[in-house]
Amino acid sequence: MSKLIVGNWKMNKSSKEAQELLEELAKKSSFCCDIVVCVPYVHLGLASRLLHKSQIKLGAQNCCHETSHKFTGEISVRMLKDFGCEYVIVGHSERRKHFAEDDLIINKKVLLALKNDLKPILCVGEELHEPDGSYLKDVLETQLKIGLAKLEANQLKNCIIAYEPAWAINTKERAPLDHILNTISLIRGVVRELTAVRAAVIYGGSVDFTNSAELLKQPDIDGLLVGRASLDFSEFTKTIHSCPH
Ligand code: PGA
Repeated sequence: MSKLIVGNWKMNKSSKEAQELLEELAKKSSFCCDIVVCVPYVHLGLASRLLHKSQIKLGAQNCCHETSHKFTGEISVRMLKDFGCEYVIVGHSERRKHFAEDDLIINKKVLLALKNDLKPILCVGEELHEPDGSYLKDVLETQLKIGLAKLEANQLKNCIIAYEPAWAINTKERAPLDHILNTISLIRGVVRELTAVRAAVIYGGSVDFTNSAELLKQPDIDGLLVGRASLDFSEFTKTIHSCPH
């Protein structure tokens, strides 16, 4: 399975800046791994036009948990599909924190995404860095068991789980490798209780080209979710090229 590198632009880029970065990315003819860029909603049309001939796939950063028309300000999974999205980030820690998204809402989004042929990138992770005790296991078990509830076993192969410890996002240093590997093995253990399918698990939180190679060579880490370092062409492509061929 080739590694997956997802750029999460968050709430960044004017339309001019978005166009410049997307044009540069679209010019690159080949990548050693699968690349997805998750742009703000307002840039999806532009991104879809500029990327459709490239190898880069398009993703959104969120979607509505319902399909009815009566959700002012929201964007449905069908709209995302219509714009050529193949992926959607669901349950990012910033949405859990600032928009009070709970696991039940997140589960609805995961199910809707899958039903509409979009691959959900389900973000899970602890808020605080407390390596001892049962805190981490309890958090992950709750997020995964509710977040992935009602999924059929074969649907899990279209689901990506992003392990993102909130304490390592937007900081100077990513989480230590042993912590990431131990937690990913915990995640795989919880997922195995739900299904025999091996889910793709990627890591996110202060990843850049200076620390990505070590992660990408680990067989148990299927890829990366990259925030700040995906906003600059050179930084993002250097991160991508750190992937072992
Ligand atoms: P960061 O963001 O790489 O800037 O820490 C990652 C994320 O929040 O997905």
